[in-house]
Amino acid sequence: MQPDISVKHLSKVYGDGFQALKDINLEIRRGEIFALLGPNGAGKTTLISIICGIVNASAGEVTAAGYDIVKDYRKARETIGLVPQELNTDSFETVWNAVSFSRGLFGKPPKPAHIEKVLKDLSLWDKRNNRIMSLSGGMKRRLMIAKALSHEPQILFLDEPTAGVDVELRRDMWEMVRKLREHGVTIILTTHYIEEAEEMADRIGVIRDGEIILVEDKAQLMTKLGKKELRLQLQQKLDKMPGELTLEPVELSEDGYELIYTFDSQQEQAGVARLLRTLGDLGIEYRDLQTRESSLEEIFVGLVHE
Ligand SMILES: Nc1ncnc2c1ncn2[C@@H]1O[C@H](COP(=O)(O)OP(=O)(O)O)[C@@H](O)[C@H]1O
Ligand SMILES: [Mg+2]
Repeated sequence: MQPDISVKHLSKVYGDGFQALKDINLEIRRGEIFALLGPNGAGKTTLISIICGIVNASAGEVTAAGYDIVKDYRKARETIGLVPQELNTDSFETVWNAVSFSRGLFGKPPKPAHIEKVLKDLSLWDKRNNRIMSLSGGMKRRLMIAKALSHEPQILFLDEPTAGVDVELRRDMWEMVRKLREHGVTIILTTHYIEEAEEMADRIGVIRDGEIILVEDKAQLMTKLGKKELRLQLQQKLDKMPGELTLEPVELSEDGYELIYTFDSQQEQAGVARLLRTLGDLGIEYRDLQTRESSLEEIFVGLVHE
């Protein structure tokens, strides 16, 4: 199947000579949730803005639903809904009118039943006759999403949808994104919150200094790069690490009551057996043990600082 978004050899040099994107290649599959994860200034908004036709590329090609974003701009843009990072909503317009108007901008005929559904899904229905400027920050965010969905796009971009958003709204957004995906909408969200990518994404792309440094299925990423940790609570305090153990990546906790062994989850676990045997030989007894996989956060921090 053709990808919903295809980005080939995309570069962006801003007017001041700053290169924000360097030879980006990326394909987004139909119906997936793709999280573009990267620190501030990495180029996330620039990439989205180019795909949505708001910023011009310096080089490269982009298609959305098969349409070239330059040659077939209108058709490409029609398939896309964008929830931008910045809210600009100081409007006297009512919620209902703003969302209906957005749909019209894409040349779609009015469809009140759709607008009603979107407003209800986003808990904005009660506010439909309110002026935008009177809405709370959270409601304004919901409104931005409603506008982006007004023309029934196949692809939805959410640029930092939950930056500075309270916990409740964040949960609601995640819920809404999942619902949209169930209906076949392709979702690309940018975030610098690892937990968001971990919670939501099917695939994760990591961007750093204008370069995509990795694209992986989330599950694969976590096992591929993940480390496991084995913690052993000792019966008796160890004053220092026995020499026999220093060959392994083992640490002794500060209080001397815990041994912490870190290993690659991909490797076979011979190391664990060897460690336990060595402990047995040394007569070191433990009363409990746990293993834990590293979170995406640890993986990400490791990658970005590599
Ligand atoms: N209009 C612009 N002119 C010059 N530099 C820009 C412009 N917009 C963004 N940048 C720079 O490009 C880099 C990437 O920005 P951006 O795409 O907003 O990153 P992100 O969304 O990942 O935080 C940053 O260093 C930013 O300062
Ligand atoms: Mg940004």
